[in-house]
Amino acid sequence: MVNIMNYEIKYDTRDNIASLLSENNPKQVELIRKMAHDVLLENCGSGVYYRGLIEFSNRCVSDCYYCGIRRSNADVNRFDLTMDEIVDSALWCAKNGYGSIVLQSGENSSRDFIDFVCRAVETIKKRSVSEELPNGLGVTLCIGEQSEADYARLFAAGAHRYLLRIETSNRELFKTIHPEAQSFDNRVECLRRLKRTGFQVGTGVMYGLPGQTYQMLADDILFFKGMDIDMLGMGPYIRHSSTPLKKNENQFIIEGDDLLRVSLLMIAACRLVLKDINIAATTALQTIDPTGREKGLSFGANVVMPQLTPVDYRKSYLLYDNKPCQEDTKEECKNCLSARVGSVGREVHYNEWGDSPHFKRKGESKN
Ligand code: 5AD
Repeated sequence: MVNIMNYEIKYDTRDNIASLLSENNPKQVELIRKMAHDVLLENCGSGVYYRGLIEFSNRCVSDCYYCGIRRSNADVNRFDLTMDEIVDSALWCAKNGYGSIVLQSGENSSRDFIDFVCRAVETIKKRSVSEELPNGLGVTLCIGEQSEADYARLFAAGAHRYLLRIETSNRELFKTIHPEAQSFDNRVECLRRLKRTGFQVGTGVMYGLPGQTYQMLADDILFFKGMDIDMLGMGPYIRHSSTPLKKNENQFIIEGDDLLRVSLLMIAACRLVLKDINIAATTALQTIDPTGREKGLSFGANVVMPQLTPVDYRKSYLLYDNKPCQEDTKEECKNCLSARVGSVGREVHYNEWGDSPHFKRKGESKN
């Protein structure tokens, strides 16, 4: 039996976090959930914030062993949304009260690509200004590793948050899921560049990777703390049938139902340790449990990302098998999600950016 008080007193030690993550007594799990919920209310309030997710291109120069849109997957139809399609989706978000969007794509560092994204951000910022959103939509980018100069251009164009997952903070494990050309050090360096540029910085990991242990996940949380990150988007690793990583099936340490429990405990542990950051209840959670996202909210998450990608393209943006919400239109996603948020006694805050309180507090303490 785990003594719940331990978590309160010293949950920032590696062993203690690892023991929290491996908790499988339902009563203790419920206690952890309640503690995470209290910490959320105290530090962020009960509001849930939407980020309309626009996956605007699935072309990718990277070849991550786990990802369905990796460069070597020849079965994928590659697409790019047009400028008009992107801007229209964003303006739909603004009109429907989503205060923020996420522009996500495969990795690409070409000059043309960065120019295109800068133009998209500038146009969206300009055209989404209204009485409800006097500063336009909040724009988060999730377009991978880039140079510091390009991060600066994207920031100047008006994006103010950036997500770049570390995937795992364990150097060795990182190597087993990425080809040589993608380095752990460069990923960390990119997170530093983003911070220097002025972005609110988000990162995250996958859990349930072949060979991953609770100790490694505990280290991930200490990594987030050490990097002083503002936002988190994490999710369970889910096999994609045409990727190399699926071959390691026997090496999973977290299987079946356990993956959901660990997913939720990861959210709770991050809330307990990091307190005032934004944490997303990601779509991958819904893949392993039909109410995974709602459960994520009740374990301490406060952000959800409704799908905006045009339905025709979604089947070409399958990062993993059985990705949910393939057929739902953006209207259906909106209604479905607000009902889901309401079902756990929470409320969507419309027309707000919902910035990370952690980032704001850092700014205040500098003044
Ligand atoms: N299972 C779960 N998440 C995945 N991602 C990519 N492939 C998978 C997968 N098979 C996640 C990565 C990436 C994000 C965009 O999607 O964490 O950073």
